[in-house]
Amino acid sequence: MTSTVSTYADRPAAPYDVTDVALYADGDPLPVWRDLRATAPVHWNSTGIPGEEFWAVMTYDSAVQVYKDSTAFTSERGMRLGSTQHGVDAAAGKMLIVTDPPRHARLRQLMNSAFSPRRTAEMEQTMRDVLNPLIDDAFERGVVDFVTDIAAVLPAAIVCHIMDVARDEHGAFTEMTSKAFGASLGEEGGPVTVAASARANAKIFAYYAKLLKQRRAQPGNDVVSTLAHGEVDGVPLTDTEIIMNCNGILLGANETTRLASAGGLLALIENPAEWQRLRDGVVSLDTAVEEILRYTSPAMHMKRVARIDTEVGDQYVKAGETVAIWNPSANRDEAVFDRPDTLDLARKPNRHLAFGTGSHFCIGAALARVELRVMLQILVDRLSGAEIAGPVRRMRSNFMWGVERMPVTLLPQ
Ligand code: HEM
Repeated sequence: MTSTVSTYADRPAAPYDVTDVALYADGDPLPVWRDLRATAPVHWNSTGIPGEEFWAVMTYDSAVQVYKDSTAFTSERGMRLGSTQHGVDAAAGKMLIVTDPPRHARLRQLMNSAFSPRRTAEMEQTMRDVLNPLIDDAFERGVVDFVTDIAAVLPAAIVCHIMDVARDEHGAFTEMTSKAFGASLGEEGGPVTVAASARANAKIFAYYAKLLKQRRAQPGNDVVSTLAHGEVDGVPLTDTEIIMNCNGILLGANETTRLASAGGLLALIENPAEWQRLRDGVVSLDTAVEEILRYTSPAMHMKRVARIDTEVGDQYVKAGETVAIWNPSANRDEAVFDRPDTLDLARKPNRHLAFGTGSHFCIGAALARVELRVMLQILVDRLSGAEIAGPVRRMRSNFMWGVERMPVTLLPQ
């Protein structure tokens, strides 16, 4: 490997700032990522703000290298760019995603039981029961916002299921989560404000505390009970650790799955021949799910910090520097994927990185895959098509990639 031993001064300026949210809300990032993969596969992204600079990893092989090397790269300095030091310090070593080995593996083992293949399969019927009435309602109403009215509801319902939220509290819990994540209209009918989102977040934390109290007294088969009664290295988890991991599940589950299913429908609308191949049974639901995950790649970046001086691609990364893996770019790397910008529902092999890889590989991957498969099955079985019925709005974010509003008319069979 030839390495460019760089100092701050001689680091080549990248022609783009990949954190620019306007690129994702209003622009087209695909040519930008393509150009960066060709000319600056691992580059120093300098926004001009000290402390916010980082190495952007745009290619597949370098992304895999960083994901898999938890010796050279720590997760305990935060999972995303721009998070506050205070928040990161509070969660590091407690919440799974920002915990390093060896504690990470033991905590993950404890949480794994909530995500076993059996538990996941059991949820399939629940998913159909959630989705079918939403589709009935959409047929009746004519135009719905697929993101908020359908795609957001399924993951929230599944999180309720994992935490065994009482049936009559599902509505309130879903409402809190969609406010916290800005997936529904705010109190004044406009987008959710920062203050409204903070209020909703506080309510969610209070709700976890209530669940925890209940499950300490009366354990069930849910993830809160598992965390409340489990131990890591012979020591029970603290209330803070439990609540943080409940929130970690919610954070991991909600926006990502919502964006993958809404982005999936948009991809089908824009590629009617692919949708037809799915309807005709020419391609399988399983390969279609993987391709939608690759094509939509909702988790845009994942952060690591180098613990030691090391090399990534053709660059020399110093200990203490931040590295951010750009998942959708890695998932469109032409060195790995043939015609990467084309939706090919039969794509095989499809070793995408939408769920990351290595020790932090998404713990909810199997669940998300089933959610997407059930969603696709229903779209195939019940719809003859769908039409965009208003302006599609993309998220103004560099952490989550995808559609925020998508008015559609769903056409029955
Ligand atoms: C399409 C849907 C999803 C996508 C694209 C996605 C993406 C990811 C990615 C990229 C990571 C790796 C993070 C890293 O390496 O730092 C991750 C981890 C994680 N995800 Fe997901 N996720 C999805 C669904 C879910 C669901 C449904 C849940 C829970 C119900 C979940 C919970 C988590 C948790 C707890 C982690 C941390 C795992 C660990 O650190 O060991 N995710 N996810």
